[in-house]
Amino acid sequence: MPAEAPAPAALAPGATARLFFALWPPAVLAGQLGAVARQAALELGGRATRPETIHLTLAFLGDVAEARLPELCRAAAAIRGKTFGLGIDCLACWPHKHLLWAGCSVPPPALRQLHSSLGEGLAGLGLRPDDSRHTFTPHLSLVRRLPEALALSERSWPLPICRLDWPCQRFVLVRSRLSSVGPDYQILAEFPLAP
Ligand code: 2AM
Repeated sequence: MPAEAPAPAALAPGATARLFFALWPPAVLAGQLGAVARQAALELGGRATRPETIHLTLAFLGDVAEARLPELCRAAAAIRGKTFGLGIDCLACWPHKHLLWAGCSVPPPALRQLHSSLGEGLAGLGLRPDDSRHTFTPHLSLVRRLPEALALSERSWPLPICRLDWPCQRFVLVRSRLSSVGPDYQILAEFPLAP
């Protein structure tokens, strides 16, 4: 995985990239979350997220000029976030989005701090994440296109699950490419958190 953004010389002039910052789970945890997603999709319907694409979005930027990648990376690298542990212990549902997601009943303060530091760093570049109007609800999308959204909304959410522990030691900048078979994500750069 590259530690830095692509060199500006490699970028096509005027090109844009669909970008977001995220926490990316280690492969073992992604596999466990993928299994939860498959089981939930079997029981409820909908389309399970592929394990290799499961993540927790910190800030979704949408289309950004590729020429801005180096300054984005500098701003992210300047964030002095601290490592933290995330206990993924519940499933919840957003019926209006037909989305089932996994989350933590008590998000650690360091996660909220990282989210707000990132927002401030991006604001300093004149960028406003697309999701900044809403309260930050840390979530990992597990099943999309849930069918019976109304019926699901009558269940009692959140639903406790066997806790999965995630030691978060870095966050990443990701490029998203959309296609008919689902999104393809490429990690462009990673930013370590301090112990
Ligand atoms: P979601 O999982 O809740 O759909 C890449 O698309 C990531 O950015 C997804 O995790 C998605 O969240 C998040 N995201 C936030 N705002 C978005 C938007 N306006 N369009 C697409 N994705 C968005």
